Amino acid sequence: MAIRVRHPNLRSLILLSLLAIASAKVFFEERFDDGWENRWVKSEWKKDENLAGEWNYTSGQWNGDATDKGIQTSEDYRFYAISAEFPEFSNKDNTLVFQFSVKHEQKLDCGGGYMKLLSGDVDQKKFGGDTPYSIMFGPDICGYSTKKVHAILTYNDTNQLIKKDVPCETDQLTHVYTFIIRPDATYSILIDNVEKQTGSLYTDWDLLPPKKIKDPEAKKPEDWDDKEFIPDPEDKKPEGYDDIQKEIPDSDAKKPEDWDDEEDGEWTAPTIANPEYKGPWKPKKIKNPNYSGKWKAPLIDNPEFKDDPEIYVFPKLKYVGIELWQVKSGTLFDNVVITDDPEYAKQLAEETWGKQKDAEKAAFEEAEKKKEEEESKDDPVDSDAEEDDEDADEASNDTDAESKTETDKEDVHDEL
Ligand SMILES: *[C@@H]1O[C@H](CO)[C@@H](O)[C@H](O)[C@H]1NC(C)=O
Ligand SMILES: *[C@@H]1O[C@H](CO)[C@@H](O)[C@H](O)[C@H]1NC(C)=O
Ligand SMILES: *[C@@H]1O[C@H](CO)[C@@H](O)[C@H](O)[C@H]1NC(C)=O
Ligand SMILES: *[C@@H]1O[C@H](CO)[C@@H](O)[C@H](O)[C@H]1NC(C)=O
Repeated sequence: MAIRVRHPNLRSLILLSLLAIASAKVFFEERFDDGWENRWVKSEWKKDENLAGEWNYTSGQWNGDATDKGIQTSEDYRFYAISAEFPEFSNKDNTLVFQFSVKHEQKLDCGGGYMKLLSGDVDQKKFGGDTPYSIMFGPDICGYSTKKVHAILTYNDTNQLIKKDVPCETDQLTHVYTFIIRPDATYSILIDNVEKQTGSLYTDWDLLPPKKIKDPEAKKPEDWDDKEFIPDPEDKKPEGYDDIQKEIPDSDAKKPEDWDDEEDGEWTAPTIANPEYKGPWKPKKIKNPNYSGKWKAPLIDNPEFKDDPEIYVFPKLKYVGIELWQVKSGTLFDNVVITDDPEYAKQLAEETWGKQKDAEKAAFEEAEKKKEEEESKDDPVDSDAEEDDEDADEASNDTDAESKTETDKEDVHDEL
């Protein structure tokens, strides 16, 4: 069922090193070389409503290799749905690695960059937001609050989100996202070949009820002392403590010259807070010698828990798809791989993203510089604005500037 590593249509030496990993099974690999359109099916989803976005086959505005193309969302406010089929396989007893690269050239403020693995039979022409999937994985950004890697597993027909927070990349450069699921029900999430999260499918998703629960019958023993600190029984209130007044007459105050005892009554100095006054007396706190720690109910086996040793298994994986809504387009996908060998995926990432990333970054910085220059050229108002700024800087050197404007305002009011 699984294909032995095949010669993907290649254009460079890349493959030499990849072929060295002869034991890797590669279920699907897409570099978006020529002919990619024969392997991918564009869905008709949202076409009726004129909301189906077009893909641009491109290496993007900045890249490390202009001949290495991917597919990029090219229209704003559009739905995107595209998928590719591969020979059906099960990941039972095997590691599953799902990896791709994604670049948000548009400075994404709200939208996804994730991909899906689908099982069973899917009408690819109708693939859309409602099509059931097995795994959804990749970055999702919205505003300041959502900047995370989605890792959704479908178990018992329910989409379960990872419970751990995995921050995603937010810049405008290419990044490689890798999801590894192992037969021991552990997983890892990598970005750019660096592990960002790892753990167990049992604990980091709510696929099954928890193995252990707090004993609902357990009660805190009567004599359990959970006070960590107690008032020191040895501590005594100092003599005369209560005689200290809260307020005392201000000794610096002087009777005003023009005070008239007859008319104004007898003069008394105003009172001020007494620095000696420390509030009502409290004994100091000491560690409780009898402290028995925080009480916790003991854990017992959860009667609801029934283990599923195949919790990690997706028996009929058959399609990979991208299904997105994009407010601002410009997300570019490339180098999709589904394999059983993390090392194979790692090398693929190194040979593509790894080799190109420095040149891509330089190209991006160049593009940014050019954009800035053009903006300042196109916008002669800018020079005026700069002068204004300088004026403002001088005026705002001290708080007088603010009070000055306040006075100006008042003047205006007075005049009105
Ligand atoms: C496709 O991407 C290239 C490179 O960024 C760009 O020049 C071109 O205008 C894009 N085409 C469409 C149809 O968006
Ligand atoms: C599967 O889901 C159904 C409906 O939500 C639920 O009744 C059942 O207990 C679940 N089975 C497992 C093994 O989680
Ligand atoms: C600690 O426990 C002993 C025995 O119950 C008791 O006599 C003693 O007063 C306790 N000490 C404090 C500080 O509560
Ligand atoms: C701002 O105030 C500081 C300290 O009073 C002074 O040294 C500085 O020259 C002032 N700058 C301007 C722009 O007025």
